Amino acid sequence: MNLNIFQQPRKVFIILFSCFLLYSFWVYSIPLFSTYPTPIQKTKLVSDGRLVWQKYNCHTCHQFYGLGGYLGPDLTNVYSRSNKNEAYIKAMIQSGVRQMPAFELSDEEMTTLLAFLKDVDASGSADVKAYQPEILGTFSLEKK
Ligand code: HEC
Repeated sequence: MNLNIFQQPRKVFIILFSCFLLYSFWVYSIPLFSTYPTPIQKTKLVSDGRLVWQKYNCHTCHQFYGLGGYLGPDLTNVYSRSNKNEAYIKAMIQSGVRQMPAFELSDEEMTTLLAFLKDVDASGSADVKAYQPEILGTFSLEKK
């Protein structure tokens, strides 16, 4: 008797279960070969900078990826914006301007905060207009 595949549940199960195992192995092995550091591997400098960001409540007025407070501008890519640099960011924090209050950060806090902002910047772009829609419905990042 010649049964078709759908009349052999055991075979179907074995095939699907093997697919599941292969796929799981593939998904869980990605981080093992990835060169992008996981949050745990990120340097202490960056994680300390994140604490400084939280300590001074920068997020109450600023956003990362559009999320946060809306009194000040989004700071996701402030680190690499062409008309800004470390000295500019430092000056903004130390002296403040209009609604932006001045903060007295220690040298160490400033160094770690800048490392944190640099790391956030490297994680992507918050500017929606920088993304180019592709014909297949995905988006690619236009290099500025
Ligand atoms: C009370 C709200 C408030 C807090 C808290 C605050 N900021 Fe701001 N920040 C602002 C405002 C408003 C501006 C825009 C000032 C302007 O140009 O008029 C600004 C501007 C900036 C800029 C310049 C951005 C640009 O694109 O030119 C940087 C950098 C910045 N803030 C960093 C920080 C950091 C780091 C912290 C935390 C230590 C912080 N801010 C906390 C309100 C705030």
